[in-house]
Amino acid sequence: MHAKFVLLPGDGIGPEIVTQGRRILEGIASRFGHTFEMSEHMIGGCAIDACGDPLPESTLAACRASHAVLLGAVGGPKWDDPKAKTRPEAGLLKIRKELGLFANLRPTKTWDELVDASPLRRDIVSGTDILFVRELTGGIYFGESGRKPHASGEEAWNVMTYTTGEIERVVRLAAEAARRRRGKLTMVDKANVLEASRLWRQVSEKVVKTEFPDLQYNVVLVDAMAMHLISKPRDFDVVVTENLFGDILTDEASMLPGSLGLLPSASIGSSGPGLFEPIHGSAPDIAGKNIANPLATILAVAMMLRYSLNMNAEADAIETAVNNVLKAGARTKDIAGNGPSISTTEMGDKVLDALLKG
Ligand code: IPM
Ligand code: MN
Repeated sequence: MHAKFVLLPGDGIGPEIVTQGRRILEGIASRFGHTFEMSEHMIGGCAIDACGDPLPESTLAACRASHAVLLGAVGGPKWDDPKAKTRPEAGLLKIRKELGLFANLRPTKTWDELVDASPLRRDIVSGTDILFVRELTGGIYFGESGRKPHASGEEAWNVMTYTTGEIERVVRLAAEAARRRRGKLTMVDKANVLEASRLWRQVSEKVVKTEFPDLQYNVVLVDAMAMHLISKPRDFDVVVTENLFGDILTDEASMLPGSLGLLPSASIGSSGPGLFEPIHGSAPDIAGKNIANPLATILAVAMMLRYSLNMNAEADAIETAVNNVLKAGARTKDIAGNGPSISTTEMGDKVLDALLKG
């Protein structure tokens, strides 16, 4: 098969880890006989520096014309000035909106080999396997916002808005995922306080009752969920929630496996290219040192092949290769503890090697 990918390395460690993602794609192409066309474009801080826009029109056009997009990371202290005209993050929000990527899938699975790096005890966290489905193009991130003068200085506001349709489509997607997993769906909201949450609860319940009566369904308030995630993470299978709650809960959950460097994410819409990325940030402190962990990006490549092109055997092959490399003891600095560590490039070599050996 012939497929077209856009690579968006972005800022910080982005270029180093996306380079490893590219090598894995080349490895898959050669092992499975595909032709992958890949082009690189700018997003985030580097795009602001080059042309004053965190998401240049040419980048967006290339993404639209692709099968899928692999992103490294955006942002860094250089572009953090709150008074700046634009920020790298604006590029990320815009690409999500423009490509209609309303669902953000963040699988959080513990790797047995690494569980002891978790800040939680093994007996609590071991066996955790949660798929978060975060709504990504609505809510307070995209609602009306503004400022006006106030007697004390200024007043500022951000509005959380949701429509029935926005809730239905993401709940449906999460419910379908739950059906393919362990059949459990948890919807997280703040319906005891927020009107937008009350609509979530009503719409979600209706979708599940009428279309997915086979699922085990429950609702949890977001503050309680923050607690349950660290006290009984094994209780959850698929968790669906609105944009801001999902942002916060997935960062919390990313600590469970003890290694941020292994968590990929997929942002998808109802049609068109999806966006795949590691969930960690641009880590400017270690950028350019060839020590970043490329595994989350490599696993994002697996998600990309699975979700955008239905290449399940190819995705399995990548995940197996990563598993084998970890089992064999290869560790980048972030997951090495006090043991020896290898570089970004060496980790890429090892996964590629495992992949090509099959
Ligand atoms: C994420 C990030 C983004 C978000 C930022 C960088 C805009 O934190 O992908 O979770 O808040 O969505
Ligand atoms: Mn976040």
